[in-house]
Amino acid sequence: MERELALEMVRVTELAALASAKWMGRGSKTEADGAATAAMRHMFNSVSIQGTVVIGEGEMDEAPMLYIGEKVGNGQGPEVDVAVDPLEGTELAAKGLSGAIAVMAVAPKGNFLHAPDMYMEKLAVGPALKGMVTLEDPLDVTIRKASQILNRPVSDLTVSILERDRHARQTGILRDLGVRIKLLPGGDVAGAMAPAFLESGIDLYVGSGGAPEGVLAAAALRCLGGDFQGRLMPADLMEYDRCVRMGIRDPHRVLSMEELVGTGDVIFAATGITPGEFMKGVRILPGNRAETSSIVMRAKTGTIRIVQANHYLPGKPFLQTLEGLFDGAESADAAV
Ligand code: FBP
Repeated sequence: MERELALEMVRVTELAALASAKWMGRGSKTEADGAATAAMRHMFNSVSIQGTVVIGEGEMDEAPMLYIGEKVGNGQGPEVDVAVDPLEGTELAAKGLSGAIAVMAVAPKGNFLHAPDMYMEKLAVGPALKGMVTLEDPLDVTIRKASQILNRPVSDLTVSILERDRHARQTGILRDLGVRIKLLPGGDVAGAMAPAFLESGIDLYVGSGGAPEGVLAAAALRCLGGDFQGRLMPADLMEYDRCVRMGIRDPHRVLSMEELVGTGDVIFAATGITPGEFMKGVRILPGNRAETSSIVMRAKTGTIRIVQANHYLPGKPFLQTLEGLFDGAESADAAV
């Protein structure tokens, strides 16, 4: 993959973020997601790839755009797997809470796991704990190991986890151990990335979230030099069979970062929609301008770029075509 692709990708996530930003806090998850998806789809037309969406907005019959299997790109350039989440953290965006991002990753064809849409148990760490802890261990063992390796008392460690009823057991274990806990309202791609940033103050990310988001997080952590492990959580026999049909022979096995995103090159890009830890949200400025803050990274070189951009909105006619898209349409969302 050419390195220029990294910059092209950030243009894709920027437009998605700009498109959905106007829906911030308006209680409309569907509209916010639809605007981000349409913008991302539009921007792909100018990207020099022969891409196939592997992680996307759903199956062909349920998603009009960026569905799994859809071909994206201008048909020139390398054959790549594409993982997208045009609006990661729909509820965060709909409520105007921090942490909503537009995110995507690409890798040479055949490298991304075709993760089924179900929960995945996750463990993410930064470079200091890479290769030192495993999802095979019980949570308390992992925390004690981390404390030993980092040479810090358990009570000094900070673990982040989604605030969900299904995490009552894990949260209980963490509280009994006396670690500091950061409970996230949503957005576990950024959540899993946090341990790789020293300034986040987070040492480990644990708990379960979406499996597709797991692939995106694994892509980010490969670029960041951290580690990510995941274990699919088929809820019933139907979900179990779906994993097997998708080529995952033992759905209960711990999947390594390399099994999720391969060992070759990976490029990852994300743009903040609402303000977050590593990226500011979209800021609307006077004079028809808006500012975005993005991160774009490449596994092959390990370069991490923070891209601050100041956009002139009339110069992006596609955004105007979105204006009327949802006008008058009944929101499909329940109040959030
Ligand atoms: P959406 O953008 O699809 O709403 O996902 C937000 C998210 O928080 C993900 O980051 C996470 O993987 C998943 O939801 C967790 O699912 P749940 O909200 O059911 O716990």
